[in-house]
Amino acid sequence: MKKLLVIIGARPQFIKFAPLSKAFQNFGSIDVIIIHTGQHYDSNMSSLFFSEMDIHEPHYNLDVKSGSHADQTAMIMQRLEKIIAKEDPDGVVVFGDTNSTLSGALVAVKMNIPVFHVEAGLRSFNRKMPEEINRVITDHISVLHFAPTATAVQNLKHEGITDNVYHVGDVMYDAALQFSRKAEIESFILKNLNLSSKQYFLATIHRAENTDNSTLLMNILQFLKHCSMRLPVVLPLHPRTRKMIKEYQLESYCEGIKILDPVGFLDMVRLESNAACVITDSGGVQKEAYFHKVPCITTRKETEWAETVESKWNKLLPPDSLSVEDSLDVMFEFINIQDRGIIQDYGDGTSSQKIAHIISRYFGLDNG
Ligand code: UD1
Ligand code: UDP
Repeated sequence: MKKLLVIIGARPQFIKFAPLSKAFQNFGSIDVIIIHTGQHYDSNMSSLFFSEMDIHEPHYNLDVKSGSHADQTAMIMQRLEKIIAKEDPDGVVVFGDTNSTLSGALVAVKMNIPVFHVEAGLRSFNRKMPEEINRVITDHISVLHFAPTATAVQNLKHEGITDNVYHVGDVMYDAALQFSRKAEIESFILKNLNLSSKQYFLATIHRAENTDNSTLLMNILQFLKHCSMRLPVVLPLHPRTRKMIKEYQLESYCEGIKILDPVGFLDMVRLESNAACVITDSGGVQKEAYFHKVPCITTRKETEWAETVESKWNKLLPPDSLSVEDSLDVMFEFINIQDRGIIQDYGDGTSSQKIAHIISRYFGLDNG
């Protein structure tokens, strides 16, 4: 029997883990221990996803909550080290690019436990983003690299990482496929909000570079407010953004926008798949817009998901250049594009199974 420790802590990591946890259920010879760092802790940022997506309760919760980068990272490392020492796993899985990812990978590598990185090789080439630092370091200390796209494989190659790099596709595509039908049946959010299909915009904003700059956050809200004069704008609000709107006293810019608390994954899938357009700075939401074939405006200067832009499903509208009138024109012109491409990169919905097989092979087990 081999033991695998899975480290998750932020909303997108619960979603990425959901299909992988199912895939591991077929591997009776791998004991999966789930560690929740507690980076996200509000029920609608955390426990809701475990119940909705049928994820096993975490075996440990490090309960670190919020803090500065150093505090959060250090606290996860200190608490995790004790658990790794006790559990003595054969490998550690980390996802994406959050502080939970980096802390988990650092503790494991220093205890000589192999690190397996799901969503390896993504780059924005913007080292001011905390996520970029987290990804680069995690990739360089990981043993198995699960790349979601061909571009990610190339990025790793440019940094000299060529061994054990697997282009497995995107586990978020697996999640989108696995939960779309359930969302159709179980989510009543459109009815509850009185929304009609293709007659509203869905927005999410939480990226630190946007929320922690009063001018940029104001520009984005002003843009959304103007959008809401054409069609309703639904904005499930990340707690970080809610806090910063209050701190910068930007409440008046929110008038006319339908602001909600963060929603669960099923409601989110339903909102995404029926939107006329998605407006976001989230990594995951950009791709999900493509999965549901909904055009997406990304309020950032760059994206790690270049193929969504190349195929014309995604358009970058950097918030420092958001002049409201021009941007609305650009957005409507973009929504009306007819000749959008197909992206093969994200796989066929079996990325999680591929990852489970490769890890099992690494452990020297028969593939279940
Ligand atoms: C983190 C990730 C980011 C990811 C995002 C997903 C890092 C550096 N950033 O950003 O890459 O896109 O998660 O959502 O790891 N808060 C609450 N309740 C919660 C969680 C957060 O109120 O349950 C508030 C706190 O005020 C906290 C702030 O949100 O200070 C930011 O949370 P944090 O986890 O530090 O970063 P995110 O912005 O969520
Ligand atoms: N999401 C959700 N409810 C929300 C906002 C987002 O379920 O209110 C989901 C979204 O569908 C996607 C994931 O959260 O699967 C993306 O996470 P987030 O935007 O927090 O982080 P990022 O992907 O930018 O790291």
